[in-house]
Amino acid sequence: MNSQLLEGSCYDILPSLPMRRFKMAFVDPPYNIGIDYGNGKKADQLPAAVYIDQMRQLVQLCVDRLTSDGSLWFLINERWADQIGSMLSTILPRRNRIIWRETFGQYRVDRYASGHRHLFWHVMDTKRSPFYTEDIRIRSQRMINGDPRAAGPRVPDDVWQFPRLVGNAGERISDHPCQLPEALLERVIRCSTEPGDWILDPTAGTGTTLRVAQRLGRRFIGIEEQPDFAKLIRKRLDRPFQTRLF
Ligand SMILES: C[S@@+](CC[C@H](N)C(=O)[O-])C[C@H]1O[C@@H](n2cnc3c(N)ncnc32)[C@H](O)[C@@H]1O
Repeated sequence: MNSQLLEGSCYDILPSLPMRRFKMAFVDPPYNIGIDYGNGKKADQLPAAVYIDQMRQLVQLCVDRLTSDGSLWFLINERWADQIGSMLSTILPRRNRIIWRETFGQYRVDRYASGHRHLFWHVMDTKRSPFYTEDIRIRSQRMINGDPRAAGPRVPDDVWQFPRLVGNAGERISDHPCQLPEALLERVIRCSTEPGDWILDPTAGTGTTLRVAQRLGRRFIGIEEQPDFAKLIRKRLDRPFQTRLF
């Protein structure tokens, strides 16, 4: 098997992928909030029970393909976080519920705008699933303050701040509504995999997971249903790398 993007529905393709192969799966699915990915807005506005059931099916298909020390990551918005979190906990034990502070949310007149998403990290084995911390360390507050007692860079806590990719962000590659910042994927991939490990992204979008996996020397399988997005991903994966951006 080579690293590749597969075009089609993840529900059709996942069953044909090898079991117990992937060290990590990253699921950033449609959020069921009426976004038109190519099948119309209605396809992303399912009754709650149907949506959660569909997500359960997707997670189970991924989990069956994880190594015995693998990790499952699931990103979701505030609207669905409680139900998705409960569903995930019936399948695998949780290691973290990370809050991704994405800098600013869509303006609301009736409440505070939501400026964060929930990133669930569940593992196959609470003892054996790795947490590689060497390459994810950040400057501590003491270092930032110039305090001589600073012990050196520290492992980040469970609130991560990475700016959302707004329309004119330099990293944006298209009009896809949901492109994630590479920095977010970089931290996820570095802490739960090593070079050479296999990574699975069943709803690849613009291919952020695949692109970061490629840059970090991991192997990957991505799946994307929409031909236009798949074309975009292939182009992105063919681009030469610039020097490290972050
Ligand atoms: C939230 S976006 C993923 C964004 C991605 N993480 C990125 O950084 O670009 C979800 C993607 O899933 C795709 N999708 C929806 N249903 C799918 C299915 N059944 N199989 C594969 N892809 C699907 C959509 O076309 C959309 O591109």
